Amino acid sequence: MVERSPTQRPAGLKMQMEKTVNKLALAFGTLAILATPAVAAEDPVMVRKILMQGNAAGAGLAGAMLKGEMEYSPAAGKAAIASMNAASHAFGDYFSEGSAEEDTTAAPAIWEDAAGWEAELAKFTSATSAAAEASGREGPADLDTFKAAVGPVLGTCKSCHEGYRVKR
Ligand code: HEC
Repeated sequence: MVERSPTQRPAGLKMQMEKTVNKLALAFGTLAILATPAVAAEDPVMVRKILMQGNAAGAGLAGAMLKGEMEYSPAAGKAAIASMNAASHAFGDYFSEGSAEEDTTAAPAIWEDAAGWEAELAKFTSATSAAAEASGREGPADLDTFKAAVGPVLGTCKSCHEGYRVKR
């Protein structure tokens, strides 16, 4: 990570940047553990939870900028979208038979209604793919562009959780 001298930037902006960097670290740190395939094979429940946590950190970063709690920047917009895009493309691989029995909030409907589950996963990946596409190399240029790209992704959280997640 690039360290900037505090004298280069006004204090408020520096704090803002630190907040952004913390959120980015949360979003990506959770994804890093997946670099070990053995972990994925041995504990699919843990992996899918970690993927969802990375996803939630990306959504948190997006929400903070949309609500104006954090200043928007294209790089942070891109990071939020990228973390959700990564999670969406891997998540569906960690629902092997038998992994419904573990310490999980995954609903039995995932295994009982496989077609519906696949459709919900497809909605998720197509929303994140479109957002990643719209985000381009530099990230969405401004908050309105970001909002248009990320809005449909955030919409998929609720619909999938309603159908395929149980409250514990
Ligand atoms: C395609 C379905 C689907 C979508 C879309 C989805 N989730 Fe999830 N999510 C799940 C399921 C299933 C679980 C339960 C995983 C488990 O406990 O095994 C879960 C779990 C979670 C968890 C708890 C993780 C843990 O540590 O137990 C969080 C937080 C979460 N989701 C946030 C989100 C957010 C934020 C979004 C949208 C950006 C989202 N999810 C989109 C299906 C989905």
